Amino acid sequence: MAKLNLSPKILDVLDFGTPSAERDISRGLEKYFVESPAYHRVRSGQKTILMGNRGAGKSAIFQVLAKRERSAGSHVIELSPEDYSYELLSSTMASENAGSWVKQGAYAAAWKYLIHVLVMKALARKGMRLTKGGGREIHNYIRDNHGAQQLGPLSMLVSYLKRLEAVKLGPIEAGMRTRELDRLYKLEEIQNLLPALRKVLGNQRVVVLVDELDRGWDSSEDAKAFVSGLFQACVSINALHPNLRVYISLRQELYDDIPALYEDAQKHRDLLEKIYWSEESLLELIARRIRHSAHEKGFDVEALERAGDRACWSAVFAPPPPGRGRDGALGRGSFGYMVDRTLYRPRELIQFCSEALEQARARGARLPVPYSAIERSEYGYSAERTKDIAAEYRSQYPGLLSVFEVFRSRPPAFDRGELELLCLELACGDVPTHGTESWLASCDPNELIEILWRSGLLTARASQDGRFLGSHQVQHINLAAVRRFRVHSMFHASLGIEASEAGNTARAG
Ligand SMILES: Nc1ncnc2c1ncn2[C@@H]1O[C@H](COP(=O)(O)OP(=O)(O)OP(=O)(O)O)[C@@H](O)[C@H]1O
Ligand SMILES: [Mg+2]
Repeated sequence: MAKLNLSPKILDVLDFGTPSAERDISRGLEKYFVESPAYHRVRSGQKTILMGNRGAGKSAIFQVLAKRERSAGSHVIELSPEDYSYELLSSTMASENAGSWVKQGAYAAAWKYLIHVLVMKALARKGMRLTKGGGREIHNYIRDNHGAQQLGPLSMLVSYLKRLEAVKLGPIEAGMRTRELDRLYKLEEIQNLLPALRKVLGNQRVVVLVDELDRGWDSSEDAKAFVSGLFQACVSINALHPNLRVYISLRQELYDDIPALYEDAQKHRDLLEKIYWSEESLLELIARRIRHSAHEKGFDVEALERAGDRACWSAVFAPPPPGRGRDGALGRGSFGYMVDRTLYRPRELIQFCSEALEQARARGARLPVPYSAIERSEYGYSAERTKDIAAEYRSQYPGLLSVFEVFRSRPPAFDRGELELLCLELACGDVPTHGTESWLASCDPNELIEILWRSGLLTARASQDGRFLGSHQVQHINLAAVRRFRVHSMFHASLGIEASEAGNTARAG
């Protein structure tokens, strides 16, 4: 492979982008976006529920999709975090046990109502001159019912829920109640407009994107009904017309936290797309960013364009010098070293690379970024990741960070017996943790091992001579049969775990 020599000035302008897609989109994400088969399945409408861990690229797919749909003339409705507030829902709605108040169904009806109204509003907005083909009816409905009052999406949803709640829990005679509820559940107000809507959708496309549902997630009854109701609504609305697509993104932990969803998993399994990354696709992601940022700053990047992804990487990051580099980094190069310290999420690699670049700049280094800059940025990166991963599970497994802490300064690898014993001690409280009362005491060792493997802390070696694999690398593994475990390298620096066979423990300075 030919070695690339970049202008030293590129170091000053090199930029790996921002860690969130919402900010990346205005800086050119579309140009350096990695189009995975998952993206194509979503784009085609074959998959409408996008699942992925934090920083895996859910918003990136939605942002690029929105941009491309808009350029193609579609209406795009984006429902963003400000639009939902779980706390507000819980404080506004009566609780489930206040009456025969089947919340999930009520939320599903309210979502259907809200999304239909938003879609009709979007269609009515663009000078609904259409007097035939259904346009006039929709225009009139919006003008008469949603013209004057400009309720935000959450208020509209809540007001529909309140109507249902009033009938369900209010002092209404039983016969009346059934009729009223039936009217509300069947969305009678808009039901007769659906044929008109179908017609209009014949030549206009509307895409609804619901992202960041986890912001402010509090695991409450209302939060769960809000999301599971949305799932139901999404499935039903997507059956109306191929030109109307509602997409939802969700984190795996949230999905697992909502019994109504995973119990109903078969119903939406065929609509679910889970985001996965491999080492090659992550390398491509960084190489594209390197090329883009050099190009944007006016450098002649012909050589970079021609060079493969690996050559691009090597032009920016130097390999470990002989005798340096922990746990086999020498063989895997600097990319291997860094990617081994991620859970295969783009945000992690972007952050780690950006921090190494900062370190190099701060010390006046030249390209390629010396390996020592990677080592120096590792501690800060690792400490932040450890905290963030624990925080991702704060509603399911509060206090998880204090369980991670138990691995501090221990050897990185464990035989099953040792690990089981440690798990038992944790559950019994012999090894103290904080804030874990609600779940840890009832965990048997196998459950705790599963939690630690799923969260990314542990990797497992499925066969005697095989590699240690994490949940970011394989979807399923028979954990019960695994004899040896190892703490993932991402956590080593922050937990003071010394992993090197050679005893080399270079650390942040
Ligand atoms: N396919 C992709 N191509 C290029 N960059 C990507 C891709 N997917 C994700 N990224 C980048 O990775 C970073 C994290 O992605 P994103 O913000 O989409 O994560 P997310 O899954 O929405 O995370 P969160 O759960 O925190 O909202 C962003 O900088 C984004 O631009
Ligand atoms: Mg996001």
